[in-house]
Amino acid sequence: MTFEDLHEYIEYLSKKNDLVVVNEQVDPDLELTHILSEEQRIGKSRSIFFRNPKGSVIPAVGNLFSTNAKMEAILGDTPYNIGMRIKALLQMPDPSESIITKGIGMLREVGGARPKIVGSAGSSVTELDKVDLGRYPICRTWPEDKGPFITLPLVITRNPENGERNVGMYRMQVYDSETTGMHWHIHKGGAEHMNASSERKSGPMDVAVVLGSDPLTMFSAVAPLPDFIDEFSFSGMVARRRLEIVKGKTVDLEYPKNYEIVLEGYIDPSETRVEGPFGDHTGYYSLEEEFPVFHIRKIIERKNAVYPTTIVGKLWQEDVIMGKAIERMFLPLIQTQVPEIVDINTMEEAVFHNMVVVSIRKRYPGQAKKVMFALWGLGQLMFSKIIVVVDSDINVHDRKQVIWAMTTRIDPQYDVFVVPGTVTDTLDHPARILNYGSKLGIDATKKGISEGYKRKWPDVLEMDPAVVEAVKAKWSKLGL
Ligand SMILES: Cc1cc2nc3c(=O)[nH]c(=O)nc-3n(C[C@H](O)[C@H](O)[C@H](O)COP(=O)(O)O)c2cc1C
Repeated sequence: MTFEDLHEYIEYLSKKNDLVVVNEQVDPDLELTHILSEEQRIGKSRSIFFRNPKGSVIPAVGNLFSTNAKMEAILGDTPYNIGMRIKALLQMPDPSESIITKGIGMLREVGGARPKIVGSAGSSVTELDKVDLGRYPICRTWPEDKGPFITLPLVITRNPENGERNVGMYRMQVYDSETTGMHWHIHKGGAEHMNASSERKSGPMDVAVVLGSDPLTMFSAVAPLPDFIDEFSFSGMVARRRLEIVKGKTVDLEYPKNYEIVLEGYIDPSETRVEGPFGDHTGYYSLEEEFPVFHIRKIIERKNAVYPTTIVGKLWQEDVIMGKAIERMFLPLIQTQVPEIVDINTMEEAVFHNMVVVSIRKRYPGQAKKVMFALWGLGQLMFSKIIVVVDSDINVHDRKQVIWAMTTRIDPQYDVFVVPGTVTDTLDHPARILNYGSKLGIDATKKGISEGYKRKWPDVLEMDPAVVEAVKAKWSKLGL
């Protein structure tokens, strides 16, 4: 089961005793998100509904994605199983399957996933007379943040060249009651659409921003989907239902009918403004940079609207839970491209992209490097700063095993290498130039003669199974 809208999800959390309702007045300036963070740090991670945010007419809700159990409820299954479903859909039929049966199954699954345009969101919505972001409990999360930032938006754009839609989650700094920043990194879908708009010299580009939808559709904005998978279709496919969408009033875009708040407006590709600082996923502030500016023309609100928010920062925030769900979900798809991969660990301590450990079934010389370059060319894995490749006997999620392999299976001169001058994540502050830096590859697989290792590679210690059994049998008699 997945959820119709944010309200149904909040009700579900409440029934599960996984929601705390705070009636006390709480300040969206630093206090509100710190409460969300503390709840996670102490390990309870319940969702929190703030009935009375200071200075706002709208309540706020946070920690919506803060545990693995919540992620499974949102997806209706484990992330890995969802990944396997998507993989099955993209794969050619296996020999035991008829092409026709597979084709019909695919058509049913894909056709049943496309979003469905419906008339309107109905009478329970209000078009505000005046654009005023001041109505909402938009939070400032860290002391040196330049102002309040919208942190869980679904930013919807259309590629003017081919009409493809993109939905991405990009933070938005509030400049005034009707203007925000748009912090889409240059590699992301929204930035690509703006670039295409700019090249066509077609003037300002329509943008719609949804604040609050069903949690699966919210999650789909974060998922690193390839361009050919529309986020709304992805949401429909995972939920096995067609997402109902409505046409914008002042923008040539559609957005989910189940929105809480929608901001319709435009971005002029020729306009930028200083954005930041903002306390970021990395645990550091991302500093001032020029980013596009979003001008809001219209705000539409559902009755009893709720404003969703989150905090990002050091390690224990809910973006870690989302990141791990993404890792598990996309493993089967990564394996379709790089089939020797057994498992992958995008390490949360390394803010995911900064260190990726991958185990492979190695068959031929140079294969570890081949895997690294494949990953550096694969979607958002292009941001991986350090890739460590280990053999399949290493559990990539066990830090002890990984460090053991990293230190006992490398000769640094041959097995560690740097790729200069390539793509980096926009948030990679050590890079000397914004968006442009280097990569580190560590081949921690066992080496053989075919890779120029002329000595005998020693065996890994393993006890004789007969001895293991014998000791097990006499264990109770040993007085241990
Ligand atoms: C809470 C949160 C905030 C995020 N903020 C940004 C952001 O400001 N800029 C950005 O480019 N990506 C941000 N991301 C990551 C993107 O949402 C993610 O890379 C997504 O896949 C982008 O979608 P796209 O490939 O369709 O552009 C954020 C993710 C989360 C969970």
